[in-house]
Amino acid sequence: MDIMENITGYISENKTRFIDELFGLLRIPSVSSKTEHKNDMHSAAEYIKNSILHAGADHAEIIPTDGHPVVYGEKITDPSLPVVMVYGHYDVQPAEPLELWKSPPFEPEIRDDKIWARGADDDKGQLFMHVKAFEYMAKTDSLPCNIKFMIEGEEEIGSPSMEKFCRENAGKLKCDVILVSDTSMIARDVPSITTGLRGLSYLEVEVTGPNRDLHSGLYGGAVANPVNMLAKMIASLTDENNRVTIKGFYDDVAEVDREERDAMARAPFDEDLYKKEIDVDELVGETGYSAMERTGIRPSLDVNGIWGGYTGEGAKTILPSKAYAKISMRLVPNQDSKTIDDLFIKHFNSIAPPGVKVTTRVLHGGEGYVSPVDHPAYRAAHKAYHDTFGKEPVPFRSGGSIPIISLFEKILGAKSILMGFGLESDAIHSPNENYPLWNFYKGIETIPLFYKYYVGEMK
Ligand code: BES
Ligand code: MN
Ligand code: MN
Repeated sequence: MDIMENITGYISENKTRFIDELFGLLRIPSVSSKTEHKNDMHSAAEYIKNSILHAGADHAEIIPTDGHPVVYGEKITDPSLPVVMVYGHYDVQPAEPLELWKSPPFEPEIRDDKIWARGADDDKGQLFMHVKAFEYMAKTDSLPCNIKFMIEGEEEIGSPSMEKFCRENAGKLKCDVILVSDTSMIARDVPSITTGLRGLSYLEVEVTGPNRDLHSGLYGGAVANPVNMLAKMIASLTDENNRVTIKGFYDDVAEVDREERDAMARAPFDEDLYKKEIDVDELVGETGYSAMERTGIRPSLDVNGIWGGYTGEGAKTILPSKAYAKISMRLVPNQDSKTIDDLFIKHFNSIAPPGVKVTTRVLHGGEGYVSPVDHPAYRAAHKAYHDTFGKEPVPFRSGGSIPIISLFEKILGAKSILMGFGLESDAIHSPNENYPLWNFYKGIETIPLFYKYYVGEMK
């Protein structure tokens, strides 16, 4: 029997156990941004360590960091063979607003052939596919190379401790390639491999006017209102072509050549469905670029939240003292997040109108990434998808960010292959996050083929 028949057989014999085990992980509310979940972070790390050991690792451990712990595991079959390192993250985004969930976020359940829970896709469900694919290879003695696991707990907060962690553990993390499932595919019937991620600069701004909230009748019209001023400042950050107005913002943008843009245009991306899913009747972005290009190869600026003044019930007639906003910029390869932070801060201060003071604070950031399509691991992934989906996978650049991927390249000198099996409709970071069982099993089926072809490519 060939490997594909073997793996599909193994999946159908063990599918309920796989789900039960994944549910155990999904029940742990490992929200990295909240200190009240510190113990849950440890429980989730422990759970993954045990899963990796049970699946067949020789060794697994929890390594403390300055922030949340990392789970490391390995099976070294033959030191002369290549090393594939699997990366994933066990932390999740907060589940709020809870009232919008149809079933509680940390009580996973299956409805309509989908797993519903925070982390079902991002990234517990996706990382678990690797644990189960590894289990299959270990149990059937078909792991053709060495494997390492590095599962972090800080991805959703920008991986603040990971640069130091990677430097201190560079020897342990040494590998030939990194394999990651933490991205999405274009559609269920369009197998695709993510070849790019965007970087990120994320800041919070505070605009201060008078030293206290004032009576809006006695002062309105005579004193600068920080909420009005912040709104004007934000509005001026993009122009009529939806280009960012910060001086120097586009200086380092790596322009993508016509050939790759043409290839992107040929990708079977369904713009109408994209609009329908999010219920908007028009897409808006930088003039001269398609929606896929606007998220894949162009930088962008968004306000993530804005607040200030009175937002309680009814009306209160005040001229507020302060206004705030959280502003993020998605960056493309070759833009540097620290340079962009500096440009933003300088620009934001320069546009402050008279009568208000501005302070800014960098929250987190990370760099973009491009994955070469002529890499042996890319070719291996391509063959694996071809086998399990029965058609050619399409390379495409995603608009999302995974900050550690560029760190791996910088510190470990290793490229990452982004074999994501998520869908647009999985609602990651939103209420009712879900992951279709079909995608979960398809991932487990495709991953062992990657190993087979990768080792073949490396011979
Ligand atoms: N898994 C996502 C990133 C992603 C999702 C990339 C889908 C491509 C397709 C990751 O967990 C994530 O949410 N990243 C954050 C990074 C930030 C918190 C530093 C993001 O992109 O907002
Ligand atoms: Mn993720
Ligand atoms: Mn995420």
